[in-house]
Amino acid sequence: MSRRSSRYGRARRAIGEQKLDTTRPNVPRMYDYLLGGKDNYAVDREAVDEVVRHAPDTPFMARENRAFLRRAVRYLAQAGIRQFIDIGSGLPTQGNVHEIAHQVAPDARVVYVDKEPVVLTHGRALLAGTPGVSVVQGDARRPDDILNAPELRALIDFDEPVAVLMLAVLHFVGDEDDPPGIVARLRAAMAPGSHLAITHVTADFDADNRVRDAGAVYEKATYQITLRSRAEVARLFDGFDLVDPGLTTLSMWRPDDAVPFDADRQWCYAGVARKTDAPDQGDRRP
Ligand SMILES: C[S@@+](CC[C@H](N)C(=O)[O-])C[C@H]1O[C@@H](n2cnc3c(N)ncnc32)[C@H](O)[C@@H]1O
Repeated sequence: MSRRSSRYGRARRAIGEQKLDTTRPNVPRMYDYLLGGKDNYAVDREAVDEVVRHAPDTPFMARENRAFLRRAVRYLAQAGIRQFIDIGSGLPTQGNVHEIAHQVAPDARVVYVDKEPVVLTHGRALLAGTPGVSVVQGDARRPDDILNAPELRALIDFDEPVAVLMLAVLHFVGDEDDPPGIVARLRAAMAPGSHLAITHVTADFDADNRVRDAGAVYEKATYQITLRSRAEVARLFDGFDLVDPGLTTLSMWRPDDAVPFDADRQWCYAGVARKTDAPDQGDRRP
């Protein structure tokens, strides 16, 4: 057995020991299934199949989201970013943030943050021994706890530019938890030259209610979906300057040949932005 597979076996046993809930669709496991992964259960697959019955493009959108992640991380690393915080990182899959960043900058440091224990267990098992990479349990709704987590502080220097990635996660945070306030708190901790990347589902192009009906399936999952308009997503970038081409749908953001553009399949906004070079208001220290 290879080192990786024996580590993985131990992780899977550890997951079993955590008394996995296989009765409720679990968002990272659903996403894993959408991406063709194997770390999911019947309850997750049944929920995804229901989502796909409403919105057959969902697997395409998940792949497009990962393609955006690859393009955005490459852009950020080429722009000189050497530290990444990936909030709502999901289960490890192909083309993880550290793998993309290390292609450009082998010294880049990456902290994965997710609320779900299953992500922690798999991530820690797969990344054990990878220098400059760690996985931290954290809740996007509690940005101060994330910023102050000792494992994160061991890798991230808030006096240097950092990229915060919030990809396909803020639509799992309800309005009552104030997503613009969450991003503002993270922004306050970020040094000049820092960047923010967000992807977020929307019903702006949902003339036939496919996205709304698919989103409603998540009512029974571990996290529910809040669809937001272009103006609401744009507001998340307050205090940042969007880099070209601005706030677009996924495949319109600096497309390469990997994902063909299809105007009928646009239901997720995407943007990368640089912290505005203005004097900070308030304390920058986490
Ligand atoms: C659809 S996956 C996205 C994974 C990855 N960011 C991507 O775009 O490929 C959403 C992830 O967000 C996580 N998540 C949802 N709500 C969260 C919260 N409040 N805090 C941290 N993670 C959260 C879920 O556990 C899941 O792993």
